[in-house]
Amino acid sequence: MTAALLPGARVYFPRGSALDVLRCQVDEFMIDGPAGTGKSRVALEKINALAEKYPGCRLAIVRKFRAALTETALVTFEQHVKPRCNVRNQQRNVRQSYVYANKSEIIVAGIDNPVKLMSAEFDAIYVQEATELTLNDWEFLSTRLRNGVIPYQQLFGDCNPGPPSHWLKKRMDAGLTTRLLSRHEENPRLFSSRGEITPFGQSYMARLDKLTGPRRDRLRYGKWAAAEGLVFDTFDEAVHVIDPFPIPSDWRRFRSIDFGFIHPFVCGWWAINPDGALYLYRELYRTRRTVRDHAVQIAEYSKGEWYEALITDHDAEDRATLEQELGVTTMPADKRVSSGIQAVQDRLGGPGTPPRLFVMRGALIEQDPALIDGETGLAEGPTCTVEEIDEYVWEKQKGKDGEMLKERPVKKGDDGMDMLRYAVMYADSTEHASIGAGSLDGW
Ligand SMILES: Nc1ncnc2c1ncn2[C@@H]1O[C@H](COP(=O)(O)OP(=O)(O)OP(=O)(O)O)[C@@H](O)[C@H]1O
Ligand SMILES: [Mg+2]
Repeated sequence: MTAALLPGARVYFPRGSALDVLRCQVDEFMIDGPAGTGKSRVALEKINALAEKYPGCRLAIVRKFRAALTETALVTFEQHVKPRCNVRNQQRNVRQSYVYANKSEIIVAGIDNPVKLMSAEFDAIYVQEATELTLNDWEFLSTRLRNGVIPYQQLFGDCNPGPPSHWLKKRMDAGLTTRLLSRHEENPRLFSSRGEITPFGQSYMARLDKLTGPRRDRLRYGKWAAAEGLVFDTFDEAVHVIDPFPIPSDWRRFRSIDFGFIHPFVCGWWAINPDGALYLYRELYRTRRTVRDHAVQIAEYSKGEWYEALITDHDAEDRATLEQELGVTTMPADKRVSSGIQAVQDRLGGPGTPPRLFVMRGALIEQDPALIDGETGLAEGPTCTVEEIDEYVWEKQKGKDGEMLKERPVKKGDDGMDMLRYAVMYADSTEHASIGAGSLDGW
């Protein structure tokens, strides 16, 4: 006979790799797999189980940015895992820790503010979306594991697959991090224990099936994949996406804009260091708003900063609106596509050529809710410039000898790419003082 469950009681039946997560005692492991398989849930179940089992242990739930935990891990933890500790008197967004009656404590922290992590020692640390971290972040966390209350000390994480070149994939391939593979069939919300898909599973999987490119390979099929024929194939997140730092006041700054309404309107805030390297330090990437509304937000975020130029796409009306709202003159972008791409590639660097183009992690002001699928919570396409790079590919055109011709990129999801090209062309032109009137006539 099955006892009736009390209302609000917790129900958790792990399956497949989720069981492995709960049993795993190695120093370091990762559970990776497509979207919505139950990775974060089991990781949090493990953290809770450890807290209950080992009185006085110290654990941590970590993500690159503390703010991103509030609506993800902490909601799942509190509403589904239901830890037996009093969390009623704190706002979730400022929650620092969960303290159990047995004196176990779970710290909640972001790598963006590592003070709490630096000042303590832990028995186990769970990193949500570990692909967001740098290898340095990961190694830093491994030095914090020496509390010695749990018989094994463990650093573990979950993630969706990224590009095959990612340090985490390489680390797993090298056997330094044990890899556990999570699959949709393991989540009872999606599939019954007999493998039959649930009604919710049907609609969730149908939405994943609608994804395209590497996003589909990664989030639907769980593959560490990159798009074929990438335009910026030397772009490497580990090199070009850097942690934010305060920009010295004597660095040059400018903004560049690509207009859009159905497609994103993209504004980049750029800084140039004394050696001429370019840094995208802030970004607006939003659809379905008027230029006037964008201008209000741009002005808000630009307070207290001085820019030497505002580079924009050529639309006369949009430029006029911007000029009126921001009280500055705009400068038409150099829109030549092939030279722009070449200029970006040059700045990305390569063997023997150091990179001179960087994007600060977390530069995006806010995520555009219109670009997120309400049911799956997943983005259907890029939601910022860096994400476009991953899917920006050459049109497939074969030459006489069957060679792929790199003539022009596919014109899709390229609004951030345009903003980026305008910025690089401007920065290069001011560096070499070589911009010419004839250079502004498009492709
Ligand atoms: N064994 C289980 N029993 C009950 N509910 C589960 C189970 N596994 C997962 N879920 C539920 O399924 C939903 C998705 O799970 P979760 O967020 O852990 O997936 P994920 O793999 O981390 O997703 P993402 O790839 O988007 O990060 C959550 O509501 C979670 O509570
Ligand atoms: Mg998750």
